Amino acid sequence: MTDTFRHGPGNSADDPSPDNRRETLKRKLLLASQKSRHGRSSPTAVAVEPPNRQPPEPRLGGHSDPTDFTHLEGHRQIQLLQELGAAQGITSPFFRCHDGSAGPTSRIAGREVINFASYNYVGLAGDPRVNQATIDAIGRYGTSVSASRIVSGERPFHAELERSLAAVYGSDDALTFVSGHATNVSTIGMLLGPGDLIVHDALIHNSVLIGAQLSGARRMPFAHNDAKALDDLLQQQRPYFRRILIVIEGLYSMDGDVPDLAAFIAVKQRHRAWLMVDEAHSLGVLGDHGMGLSEHCGTNPCDVDIWMGTLSKSLASCGGFIAGNAPLIDTLRHLAPGFLYSVGLPAQLAVPALTALALLHAEPERVHRLRHISRYFLKAARALGLDTGLSQGHAVTPIVLGSSARAAQLSQALLEDGINVQPILHPAVAERSARLRFFLNCDHRESQVDNALARVAENLAQLS
Ligand SMILES: Cc1ncc(COP(=O)(O)O)c(C=O)c1O
Repeated sequence: MTDTFRHGPGNSADDPSPDNRRETLKRKLLLASQKSRHGRSSPTAVAVEPPNRQPPEPRLGGHSDPTDFTHLEGHRQIQLLQELGAAQGITSPFFRCHDGSAGPTSRIAGREVINFASYNYVGLAGDPRVNQATIDAIGRYGTSVSASRIVSGERPFHAELERSLAAVYGSDDALTFVSGHATNVSTIGMLLGPGDLIVHDALIHNSVLIGAQLSGARRMPFAHNDAKALDDLLQQQRPYFRRILIVIEGLYSMDGDVPDLAAFIAVKQRHRAWLMVDEAHSLGVLGDHGMGLSEHCGTNPCDVDIWMGTLSKSLASCGGFIAGNAPLIDTLRHLAPGFLYSVGLPAQLAVPALTALALLHAEPERVHRLRHISRYFLKAARALGLDTGLSQGHAVTPIVLGSSARAAQLSQALLEDGINVQPILHPAVAERSARLRFFLNCDHRESQVDNALARVAENLAQLS
């Protein structure tokens, strides 16, 4: 037993028996997940977060040295997870190193694997045309704009990319940030404040939760994809707040399901609220041309106040954006801290996104191939009796296993069989929802899907 556990908070940490330590870990992880700070918010947590104005409580857990990183609760949790994994013969499924670009196949540790762990949905990350345009742009502009855009970092490709993104949503303008996560944090943190309310889907991404914390606004989750639950909540709460922001995702990346956008638009109009849609996983995937949730649902994109997206999925790059009307984008351009006080996108991030978006427009068959193989995967998985959760067959399908240990073991066994798929473990999801999560790519072949699912079923039978 390590020192860390001997001095850890709670009596059970003093008992070195594996059962006791497992129980302690479970309790800690449960607590961590309920805090909803590091993962998605728990669907059962309906906690309302007041703005944190109190000085933090000392959390030294009986230790005297507040500068020792090994005394951090998070550090102890990671150690314990690693020890538990090692005791069960499971090597960590995280930080697997790919030897090149990751498409339908990839190379890991010198070996080719069928790859289901990358959100390169329309196969443009690694496309030679995207690579060449990027190399050419680096030749002209170098690898950094060397300043925040407002002071000296503006380049022609910024406006060009933002015009192209705004056109996707028929909006006045768009603004790009150097990280998708920072886009949500900075935008939500800047737009809302004390006296405002942020209501979000219970499965919303961590970046939205952190933005909400930063804003100082109140925060309330509503049941996943349930516009009626949102309506009921706002019926009660609307009178008490100045501004209200509703946040949903276009395609939920843990579950592979999509919201009924028209229903959410109706609710936001009824309660005079802003509606923000995070299109991280839906742009390039949903709709006949890959133009996202609005195209998929046949709604007017201008009925959504704030479109947010990332450059890191279908757009083959890294970064994020907001698209919306001119007053919104102007305000963010001058006041959003993650834009104003951060360097502008360099050529090697802006130009691949711009090129990928042009290719997406020119080659809609990528979206059709992705749709075909995604539906094929879902149908085949269900035919094998696998639990595909809420998936609707749009590029993301989980196979729910209900045990983190089983998900990690299965992921490891599959890698040995030449299939790379990530397990999603507690506390990222509830333990009963621990799963393997499959990302599809438009260039996956049916035979690769058949092979992978057959291996899943075989290994699962053996594990049982
Ligand atoms: C829904 C959602 N929003 C935002 C982000 C953050 O995007 P990025 O990884 O590009 O920073 C992610 C990341 O996967 C995401 O899934």
